Formats: sequence, C-alpha cells, structure tokens
Amino acid sequence: MKVLLIGSGGREHALAWKIAASPVLTQLFCAPGNPGMAAVADCVPLDPADHAAITAFCRENAVDFVVIGPEAPLVAGLADDLRAAGISVFGPSKAAARLEGSKGFTKDLCARFGIPTGDYQRFSEAGPAKDYIRSKGVPIVVKADGLAAGKGVVVAFGLEEALDAVDACFDGAFGGAGAEVVVEEYLEGEEASFFCLCDGRTAIPFGTAQDHKRVGEGDTGVNTGGMGAYSPAPVMTDAMIERTMRELIEPTMRGMAELGSPFSGTLFAGLMITSDGPRLIEYNTRFGDPETQVLMLRLKDDILLLLKAAADGALDQVSVRWNAEPALTVVMAARGYPAAPEKGSVIRGVDAAAAGGDVEIFHAGTALRNGELVANGGRVLNVTASGRSVSEAQKTAYETIARIDWPEGFYRRDIGWRAIERERS
Ligand code: AMP
Ligand code: GLY
Repeated sequence: MKVLLIGSGGREHALAWKIAASPVLTQLFCAPGNPGMAAVADCVPLDPADHAAITAFCRENAVDFVVIGPEAPLVAGLADDLRAAGISVFGPSKAAARLEGSKGFTKDLCARFGIPTGDYQRFSEAGPAKDYIRSKGVPIVVKADGLAAGKGVVVAFGLEEALDAVDACFDGAFGGAGAEVVVEEYLEGEEASFFCLCDGRTAIPFGTAQDHKRVGEGDTGVNTGGMGAYSPAPVMTDAMIERTMRELIEPTMRGMAELGSPFSGTLFAGLMITSDGPRLIEYNTRFGDPETQVLMLRLKDDILLLLKAAADGALDQVSVRWNAEPALTVVMAARGYPAAPEKGSVIRGVDAAAAGGDVEIFHAGTALRNGELVANGGRVLNVTASGRSVSEAQKTAYETIARIDWPEGFYRRDIGWRAIERERS
C-alpha cells in the first residue's frame, strides 16, 4: 500500500514510525514531514492547505491511502476533497470535524443526545455572556468557539478574569475562532484522554493517556499543547472505558449519523472523571499530540491495517492489542515556548541518545540547516520510553534527555508524577 501522511509534528512522526513498520506498506510519503520523519518516509514539500496539489500528488504517485494528522486540514475539508477524487482517507469529513471545529456545535450535540458534559450557553455578544457569568459565579470556563490551537480556553477562578476572557474573545484575540463564545460549568475531577477509532457506524476504544498541559512543574503556569504524556491513564479502568463508550461515544456516533454527518477517523475525548462519572470536556477529531507518541510505542498491532479498516467501514472486524507496559513521553521545547519560542538553536546528539533501549525520540519542530539539526518550533523533540512501570519509563526518558546536547531547550522534570504517586502508594 502506498500511503501519504499529512502533517509535520511529533504526532505525525510517531504515526510515520509505526506505519513504516507495517508489512503491507510499499511506500510512505509525508507532507510536509520533518527531519525525523525523513528517516522512515519520503518527505514532500506540499502545503496541507492546498487540496488541489495534494490530490494531484496522490494521482501522480498512485497513492492508495491518505492519513490526515492535524485538525486544521480536517476542518478545512481535505478529507472530503480527497474522497471526491476517489482516494481512500483516514479522517473525518468537514461536517464531522465540527466536533472539534466548533465547541458550540459539540455542546448542542451533547444537549440533544443526552451526552454528559458541563452546563453551558453560547453567546455572540459580550453583554449577555457577562450577565450569564455574573449569574453563575466562579469558577467558570470561557471558550472561543473555533480552533485556537489550545489557547482559546480560560478556566477562571475570579470574576474579573472571566469577564476579561469574554472581552478578549470578542476583541479578536483568537481571530474568527472567537466570534462566538461558549461559557460553561467548571468540572472537577481527574482529566484523561480517551481515543476511539471510528468508521461512521462502529467506534472501538483505542487507548487512554494523560497529558500535562501546563508549561511548569507541578502543573503550573500557562496552558500549552502538552508538555508530556503517559499511557495508559490509571483512572481509565475497564469499567470506566465501558461506561464512557456507553454514555458518551455511542450516543455521539448515533447523533452524528442522525445529523447526516457520520463520524469516521479518530474521536479523541478529553474527559473529566468526576465523582458522578465521565463528563466530556471537549472532542478532538484527530490523534492527540503528544498522546499519540505513547500510544504508538504501546500498540502491538499494525496501525496501517487499523486505520484502513476505519476508512473502509470495517472496524467491526478488528481487535486492538496493547503492550501492558506503560509508556511516557517528555516534550523538549524551545526556550520561550509557548509565547515566543526561539528558533534556530543547534541540537546535537539526538540519534546517539536514542540508540539501544526502550526509547524513541520523535521530532516535532525540527529542521536541518547546513546539515545540522536545529529547533524550528515550540515543541521540538518528544523523548518517548516504555518500562515495567511509569517510574521506569520516566527514568529512561530523562536519562536519554541527559545525553542530548541542546542548551536552549527546556522540559518538565515531573512528567507522570500523578501516576508515579499512585505506583508508590
Ligand atoms: P480544552 O482546550 O477544551 O481541552 O481545554 C483546555 C483545558 O482547560 C482542559 O484540558 C482542562 O484542563 C481545562 N478545562 C476546559 N474545560 C473545562 C471545564 N469545563 N471544567 C474544568 N476545566 C476545564
Ligand atoms: N495533547 C492534547 C491535544 O492534542 O489536543
């Protein structure tokens, strides 16, 4: 099978690494890819926003199957355009990607189909949003409706902060994504990332993880795309997974089909496990980053066959097996991330650091400059290890990081702390 993978982050490097191990693969292209992906695939300088160019490339190169990594091309309808050209795709349609592209759409779906989530209201003007916030009090959560790269959410513990968040959205802090605002109930509990593969009718569980969204140790500081993750999430017991499938995922699949936009691709539920059970925080319609890095390290089966089964509507015929050993990934970021990451610093020793042992280093924001590896984004490397316990995986990851020579990079030293505390108690 000839495959084209769209994207260039750590998530896509992990997918490329796993797809490259598939016996049915004949050639893997990545667009645009990164220097890490170039070790396992042919990187082609295509812009994921240029649907015509991607379609033409698939035709010229007899690509059998396209896997779309990031959310932006999904929300822009790349999967629809490829399918219209007769090309098999893993990833939801534009209409189904509204589950990620509009928080208001998802909240309305939850309300209509009885999917447990926090109470909410949608607003297109500041005044009524502020009145609602005053009537509800704090803590409360203010969200830009559209895609804001993880930055459009304010969990406010003070009234002023909540009111300011409303103004920021309507003043254009998130561009078009903030033209509408969702104000929602603050949920208390432990967060978990839960993944399902979906084919329009069937959804099957596809792993659990927990990530660390805050930039600082002890889960403090500003939100980021994710500074590290581990899998499985201890809070997602078999019983909790079964309940999440029954109460959230299956009604979502039925609801989307009823609305005429059946969901196929990855359904990634951001969950709050409250004292009343799982509540939906948000849906994403793609794999998580950096969660995918730990999932791919643990997956025993052929990812390519699973993704193709999802695209072909054949998920009722597959099963998924995981390594029992946990995996953990630490994100190495460029100084200044997330506000203003410094680009261009030289990184040495990456390949040697990963040699031998249960560790893979996935590239995210890297580039080659005069033959040297340099930082080219906020999140730069994902050092991903497995072990008999989360503590052992963590130890391997940090020992590997110590062998990487990159003074301009930083990382959190406590990734996995919650799971490690559980292991010790
Ligand atoms: P999101 O981008 O929607 O995943 O939100 C980013 C982060 O904000 C989540 O990972 C949660 O930690 C937090 N968050 C979002 N919505 C809520 C909520 N309703 N209650 C509590 N925390 C929330
Ligand atoms: N790590 C969270 C996300 O991918 O949205």
